[in-house]
Amino acid sequence: MKKIAVLTSGGDAPGMNAAVRAVVRTALYNGLEVMGVYRGYNGLINGDLEPMTLRSVSEIIHRGGTMLHTARSPEFRTEEGIMKAVETCRKNDIDGVVVIGGDGSFRGAQDLSRHGISCIGIPCTIDNDIACCDRTIGYDTAMNTAMELVDKLRDTAQSHDRCSVIEVMGRRAGYIALNVGIAVGAISILVPEIPYDVEKDVIDRILAAAQTGKQHFIVMVAEGVGGSTELAHHIEKQTGFETRATIFGHVQRGGRPTLCDRVLASRLGDEAVQLLLAGKSNRVVTVRNDQITDYDIEEALAMKKTLDTNLYRMAHEISL
Ligand code: F6P
Repeated sequence: MKKIAVLTSGGDAPGMNAAVRAVVRTALYNGLEVMGVYRGYNGLINGDLEPMTLRSVSEIIHRGGTMLHTARSPEFRTEEGIMKAVETCRKNDIDGVVVIGGDGSFRGAQDLSRHGISCIGIPCTIDNDIACCDRTIGYDTAMNTAMELVDKLRDTAQSHDRCSVIEVMGRRAGYIALNVGIAVGAISILVPEIPYDVEKDVIDRILAAAQTGKQHFIVMVAEGVGGSTELAHHIEKQTGFETRATIFGHVQRGGRPTLCDRVLASRLGDEAVQLLLAGKSNRVVTVRNDQITDYDIEEALAMKKTLDTNLYRMAHEISL
């Protein structure tokens, strides 16, 4: 292994930059050359890459987004696109690629591995929907961002005696909704993983809490459940409390990464390069039970992550 490349792919997440920095610095420390690839797999397809030095990754550890830019690449899902990317690697003498992204990005890493390019994936998505790891890079920051935003909304909900329906990101996963819901004392949390009944789990709970003197309410909805505007209308009609829906959207993906995300990204970036140096390929590097470890990508993608139903029960018991 003499030369590697690093790319960021899929939705950006705070901490991506810290991971790029760790990959570049560990590689250079160990005598490897490193190329930075721009805009995910599109950069490999189009040959959009350049050599990285120690200074290329200065002043990024604390920044959100990704200095390498990112993309979801439909072209890379075709055999022709994959072959163009392989060709770019061969032309530039790239023996290994570190892919920083979510599960879709790891499928791309598998494709490159099949063509003899060593690949290591680093789990990085705010959704935390990758089963083989305790936490994905970006999740902690996104939760803290959402929590701070809810704290602001709560001030106005309290002042007007209103109900606030808040939709947080998580296309197929309710991790952000559940944990932020607990952290802000939401009266109801709706996630795609757990069936719910709006009358029983939202309306009845608001009416019961109102009986005890509660006058403002937060209902947390995961993006994967959706329908927050319609839900707000329904709550207003059924309970008489003025209700507003707020969809946080992409603001949750930006901002300075938390300490947890910076440290996690640094550990995983370093380990990804160590695995390449050890001759490994087609692996995902993760922290599981607080231990750094790695899995075959196939095995990692087949794992199922379940939401902690006890946490869900607890959230609803203590937030009435
Ligand atoms: O996967 C991360 C994520 O932020 C999801 O929570 C969300 O559904 C999706 O990306 C949004 O993607 P885009 O940036 O393409 O709108």
